[in-house]
Amino acid sequence: MTKVTLNGRSVELDGDGDMPVLWYLRDIAGLTGTKFGCGAGLCGACTIHVDGEALRSCQTRLDDIQDGSSITTIEGLADGETLHALQQAWAEHNVPQCGYCQAGQIMQAAVLLTENPNPSDADIDEAMWGNICRCGTYQRIKAAIRSVAGTGSASTADAARA
Ligand code: FES
Ligand code: FES
Repeated sequence: MTKVTLNGRSVELDGDGDMPVLWYLRDIAGLTGTKFGCGAGLCGACTIHVDGEALRSCQTRLDDIQDGSSITTIEGLADGETLHALQQAWAEHNVPQCGYCQAGQIMQAAVLLTENPNPSDADIDEAMWGNICRCGTYQRIKAAIRSVAGTGSASTADAARA
């Protein structure tokens, strides 16, 4: 059975190996912050981090996860009581409308800023194009990312645990 770290805790991924990780997170682990959108890898609502990479959990089977991997969901992005810089920026810029896509948006943006702490507008567009927001909050998402870019405050929980 695959043993992983999930939001800083050791867990065994018990379940059908063909089960999407998204199902495991929501239905077995009770982590419902990660959302089901399209179920087809097209919207980004289900984005999580696996070993620091942004991954579509609806398209990843339990058997695709390597033993010893570190998985982070939106619930594990904050450092204890301290919100991740992007979560703070999302609140300051009133980014969410219905909110459904926003966990995935933040998880995608967190990897962008870990890999490229000071992205250009073009870098942001390139990193975020696959995360769909049916409410059209794209300008506020971009403003929130810009406000954190270059501040050096966006290291992810994954990086802190590495
Ligand atoms: S629900 Fe996974 S990409 Fe849309
Ligand atoms: S805030 Fe509604 S889908 Fe993005």
